[in-house]
Amino acid sequence: MNVSLKNNVAIVTGASRGIGRAIAIALAKEGCKTVLVGRNKRKLQETQKGVEKYSDAIISIGDVSNAHTAKEVVAGALKKFGRVDTLVNNAGFGIYKDFEDCSLEEIESLIKTNFLGTVYFIKAVLPVMKKQKSGSIINIASLAGMAGTPSHAGYAASKFAVLGLSESLYFEFKPDIFIGVICPGPIDTEFFMNKGYEIRNFPVKKISPEKVAVETVISLKRKRFFVAVPKWQGHILALKSVLPGMYRKGIEKVAKRF
Ligand SMILES: NC(=O)c1ccc[n+]([C@@H]2O[C@H](COP(=O)([O-])OP(=O)(O)OC[C@H]3O[C@@H](n4cnc5c(N)ncnc54)[C@H](OP(=O)(O)O)[C@@H]3O)[C@@H](O)[C@H]2O)c1
Repeated sequence: MNVSLKNNVAIVTGASRGIGRAIAIALAKEGCKTVLVGRNKRKLQETQKGVEKYSDAIISIGDVSNAHTAKEVVAGALKKFGRVDTLVNNAGFGIYKDFEDCSLEEIESLIKTNFLGTVYFIKAVLPVMKKQKSGSIINIASLAGMAGTPSHAGYAASKFAVLGLSESLYFEFKPDIFIGVICPGPIDTEFFMNKGYEIRNFPVKKISPEKVAVETVISLKRKRFFVAVPKWQGHILALKSVLPGMYRKGIEKVAKRF
């Protein structure tokens, strides 16, 4: 099965840079009209310029951790394009710090943006997709949502939650609405420049955001529920359930090199 995305209307959160920008451009190349969501207007306009080489795009400025943003974005998409076929929940950030040093506000903010932001957008598009009897939702989680590593507690918790939510909804939303989840490993974006994210020496090479975008398009076209990028890192983490002791020893060794 290879579904065409031509003339689909797609909302992409966190489209002002990085993975979200790459996904928006990849979807536009497939013929999607896009709604680009983020807080930074200038950066969103830069994405819009890139996207409009291929298809129509509008920008919608807002913070995904506020439930009103999702409602406003969906209303704006309907006003401009009349439908919503695809939602990519990508907006998010990380904090790399020991739990003891993380404030409650930092942990709350991770959950509100990475997890609740995803919930708000799904809640907002669901009535539209139900009425259409069709739609696709892709949640950008992380390999950190499959396995806990040191100094990542709040971020890992937010992404474990996105994975659990996605898996439950996959069954609930069938057959009309498809929901998939992408788990990227380290990707070469500004993610690691955020305040509080100071991993200097990665044990693995970072991958381009365009690679995540390609896998997102494939997941939408072939309705693949789960994709790790790169796949081999997902396979290693999947071993955790069969060889948990070995997994923990491995993580202890690797974490010392960060
Ligand atoms: N890079 C990696 O290694 C990696 C690995 C696994 C998973 N991921 C996930 O991939 C997603 C994208 O990350 P990235 O690597 O592209 O990072 P990035 O370059 O820092 O981009 C993050 C995007 O999210 C938006 N964003 C963040 N908080 C937001 C909020 N409260 N409201 C609205 N938009 C918000 C930012 O836009 P504004 O600043 O304009 O609001 C930006 O467009 C995140 O969910 C991240 O957890 C990244």
